[in-house]
Amino acid sequence: MKKILGLVVSVMAVLLLAACSGTSGGAKKTYTYRDMVVGFIQTGSEGGWRAANTASFKETAGELGLLLKFYDAQNKLENQVAAFRNFIADKEVNVIVLAALETTGWDDVLKEAKDAGKIVVLEDRRIDASEDLYATYIGSDFAEEGRKSADEMCKLLEGSASKNVVELVGNVGSSAAKDRGQGFREKMGDCGIVITQTQTANWSATEGKAVMESWLKQSTDIQGVFAQNDEMGLGAILAIQEAGLKPGVDIKILSVDATAGAFKALVEGTLNVTVECNPLLAPQVYEAALKALNGETLPKWVPSQEGVFRSTDPNLAEVFAQRKY
Ligand code: AHR
Repeated sequence: MKKILGLVVSVMAVLLLAACSGTSGGAKKTYTYRDMVVGFIQTGSEGGWRAANTASFKETAGELGLLLKFYDAQNKLENQVAAFRNFIADKEVNVIVLAALETTGWDDVLKEAKDAGKIVVLEDRRIDASEDLYATYIGSDFAEEGRKSADEMCKLLEGSASKNVVELVGNVGSSAAKDRGQGFREKMGDCGIVITQTQTANWSATEGKAVMESWLKQSTDIQGVFAQNDEMGLGAILAIQEAGLKPGVDIKILSVDATAGAFKALVEGTLNVTVECNPLLAPQVYEAALKALNGETLPKWVPSQEGVFRSTDPNLAEVFAQRKY
């Protein structure tokens, strides 16, 4: 009798241990979306691209039935770092998703997250950190967007005697700004483009307009604008119009993102080209996080597929009607 009792106690202890460690009868716990609690650290709400990105995360969370804890860092790096630590301390959160404002400064919190057993997925922006500190990065090839932008600007300026291009830069520390700028420079020499002015306008239409106004006061010998996002491009268009020039004709304009505002300008002919940057990343991010929770090893970067749209495209209105953002 004593022996049987001992056996029962041992079996119960094993079962209890298995339950606590997430395994039962030797089988590992399989996570579903309903077990996922995601702490999402957004950059801020700087424009149409970001609004579409945020909506993608909120809507998809509802569809999949996972719990999303959303944090808007208002474009302040210190807010992002503090939010990261809060999500590490939050016992409910098992996944942290980061859209990093800057490429550097993440090593400490990433190590803390790893020690706390949290899955970290980078979305939209890459960072400079050791790859073993995060599960995967899902986002655009910003350098390729820059290269495509230079190729398109070359086509727009074909036959032009001068190829003076001004560059409106996003937040200087971000991967989007750094890599787009680098990609553009890699290819601009192919057709003799010269960057005559370059300055940040922080992804903002208002700042883009102000910077363009000041450049036009110094010189109108400008043949092209490379705006690293649509908002800054739309701001530049206004400044060019106010200076009595025709945007899209007197000065060619190219921007990045392909938001609804840019499509409207393409249709009107004030914007020549927008290079797509896909903000609808949530389905891929959540799927990757779930795989990581279930112990899968993921590729360290999953780049998005993206296109280019031109004011001369014959089916522009149809494409516009089908777009989500
Ligand atoms: O990281 C993507 C960039 O961030 C978008 O191009 C810009 O509009 C946004 O703010």
